[in-house]
Amino acid sequence: MENDLKEILLTESEIQDICQQLGEQITKDYQSKDLLCVGILKGSVLFMSDLIKRLDLPLAIDFMDVSSYHGGTESTGEVQILKDLSTSIENKDILIIEDILETGTTLKSIVGLLESRRVNSLEIVTLLDKPNRRKADIEAKYVGRKIPDEFVIGYGLDYQEKYRNLPYIGTLKPEIYNK
Ligand code: IMP
Ligand code: MG
Repeated sequence: MENDLKEILLTESEIQDICQQLGEQITKDYQSKDLLCVGILKGSVLFMSDLIKRLDLPLAIDFMDVSSYHGGTESTGEVQILKDLSTSIENKDILIIEDILETGTTLKSIVGLLESRRVNSLEIVTLLDKPNRRKADIEAKYVGRKIPDEFVIGYGLDYQEKYRNLPYIGTLKPEIYNK
């Protein structure tokens, strides 16, 4: 797998440092709140498991699965709910955990849906942000790292469902896309 990489963007230890910093900040901000962390499947799974270990708070977790991508490297703008939350979120303080915020289409529709369920508060934490790609009017309160407009894989992020298990984040060699 490593041979498929062009460049490493974030090493394993850089990712862990980011999780630590975000964890400290979120722990401060969510004192005496009723926190429910909502992971967006499948990309956020690795980030979520590292981040919540750094939250020194009583919290619950749940997951949503949506699809906005259809196997390629460009967002189609269509969002479909594949799996909804399994618990009521009324009066909860929701923290959506995302791997990457790009056009914002995915998160915009998730936020709209969850806000209609009378939550107490709703914020977003994303490991990566590609601000130059934004189309929807949405920002994350907590951002791990802003990155340039380039397709990245690893640490939950996939290309055609592969590379999610890499412990770091990088870019792929151009020939991989032509296979
Ligand atoms: P958005 O709706 O355009 O913000 O897309 C967000 C979703 O697209 C993310 O949750 C990822 O699943 C996927 N995505 C966006 N950029 C990348 C990337 O560089 N690599 C892998 N997946 C990506
Ligand atoms: Mg995703």
